[in-house]
Amino acid sequence: MSSPAGPEPSTTWKETLAADEAERFERLGNQLRELARRRAGAAGAGRALHLKGQAGVVAEFTVLPELPAHARQGVFAEPRTYRAYVRFSNGAGERQPDGKPDVRGVAIKLLGVPGQKIIPGLEQATTQDFLLIQNAATPFRDVDEFVWFVIAAARPALLLPRAIGHLGPVRAIQLISRLVKGISRPVTSVATSRYFTALPIRYGRFAVKCALTPHEKADPAAPTGKAPDRLAAELAERLSRGPVAYDFQVQFYLDDARTPIESSCQEWLESDAPFVTVARLVLPKQDVASAEGRRLAERIETLSFDPWHALEAHRPLGSMMRARNVAYRLSTEERGAAAEPDGREP
Ligand code: HEM
Repeated sequence: MSSPAGPEPSTTWKETLAADEAERFERLGNQLRELARRRAGAAGAGRALHLKGQAGVVAEFTVLPELPAHARQGVFAEPRTYRAYVRFSNGAGERQPDGKPDVRGVAIKLLGVPGQKIIPGLEQATTQDFLLIQNAATPFRDVDEFVWFVIAAARPALLLPRAIGHLGPVRAIQLISRLVKGISRPVTSVATSRYFTALPIRYGRFAVKCALTPHEKADPAAPTGKAPDRLAAELAERLSRGPVAYDFQVQFYLDDARTPIESSCQEWLESDAPFVTVARLVLPKQDVASAEGRRLAERIETLSFDPWHALEAHRPLGSMMRARNVAYRLSTEERGAAAEPDGREP
């Protein structure tokens, strides 16, 4: 598939559920919840991961016209513009200066999305979320390794010896070097960074991974500065001058060897499965420092972004995604996140 007008993608993808996974995911989700509880400050618990929000802004998400039939699925079925909330974040479960290497995330919440949603009790919700990070795959073989790492990394001085004890020397060195490589590239601006869902979701009858590709190229010579919140300041400055735009893209499942559903550490190579642009995300010019901008950022901070806030047509796929179906609900319960926006947002 090299263009949206190419042949219809494969529908032969399938998930493989492990017999013990419901109990395992519950235990792992509770371990993350416990971590958030231990770290809770006077104001109560924050997000178990991606605690530090860089910005919470409004956006417009426009589905492109004239997509071929197979690309017209779920929220992409018709050309239209959704209002959206967008939260940029650092991945750590604690607040750190932006200069420190970290996973960077962006969470998009489309508002006013009709159709029945997946989570029991939230079937009538009018939101569809997409969560992305700056890596196209995770370095973790499975969610057990991921959660083990997140908890061990809370005491960084002991991380390497513990990793060697837990995973053996070969896997420990392999994992830590992949991880360090994945987070060490300097980020000068979130407006010029590319983001990926890293894990697959349904796209109607098809399966895809998604990317958010900035319109503006990063300037490698741009000064990064040492300010702890420099990424927020840089975005605020850009948005005071004009809009920031990204393409929202999908790459379609081909087969289990090149585009596996259950493997969280295998990237779907663009040379095998090229990305196709299906929508445009635009953060309009806005004053994030104004009273209105700050109110909006605070409102967004209280919300829950969750890949399972989704239509069945965009059901998250694969074991790490199924684990997230438990972990996000426990984290949002712990921090008392706000209810889903009901379409009457200002
Ligand atoms: C590999 C793909 C993943 C991506 C792209 C991703 C992305 C994100 C992003 C962008 C956020 C911040 C959401 C916000 O702004 O509110 C977040 C939060 C979070 N993530 Fe992930 N994540 C991934 C994997 C996982 C896994 C495997 C787990 C655990 C099983 C997990 C657990 C969490 C939790 C507990 C939160 C905080 C939820 C809340 O309190 O709102 N994530 N993730």
